[in-house]
Amino acid sequence: MVYPIVVYGDPVLRKRASDLTPGTDLKQLVSDMFETMEAAKGIGLAAPQIGKPVRLFVVDATGLEDEVGLESFRKTFVNPVLLDEFDAPWDFEEGCLSIPNIRELVNRKSRLRIRYFDETWREYTEEYDGMKARIIQHEYDHIEGKLFIDYLSPLKKRLLKGKLADITKGDVETEYRILAPLRK
Ligand code: NI
Repeated sequence: MVYPIVVYGDPVLRKRASDLTPGTDLKQLVSDMFETMEAAKGIGLAAPQIGKPVRLFVVDATGLEDEVGLESFRKTFVNPVLLDEFDAPWDFEEGCLSIPNIRELVNRKSRLRIRYFDETWREYTEEYDGMKARIIQHEYDHIEGKLFIDYLSPLKKRLLKGKLADITKGDVETEYRILAPLRK
């Protein structure tokens, strides 16, 4: 099932999401999240973006052909804990399905260590760098109630105010179905 994507202004995007109960059957939810992400042509999707305040996100960067090493980067992260972020910070232009048509440079550290479960509740502790780390950091922020625009300067934020207000009203062009909190 393809869910509509919850957009900027909805309080679910600002909540710290809750852990899932270990052992919960996640098959349907995970399958729906991949389907929703694919329909929206996203490379990552966190559960709050479909209105569910739980600590789960999916990533699929296998379509980013020009990026070496991403061919098999299709994964589910359940109850993740970001253990450490380190190494040289770098800028990358990020976007978000919940903040359509806005892209801005965000500075993040280049490596991280994360502990998480997959959809079958197998536990992993792994290190990621480059684009993989970047995608994980962005999605991890979602389950902490954080958005990439939170990293922008006060001036940049002021400049985006009007566009963000329009998104909250559903006054934005997207190729996927959205759920806008103030749509009339
Ligand atoms: Ni996002």
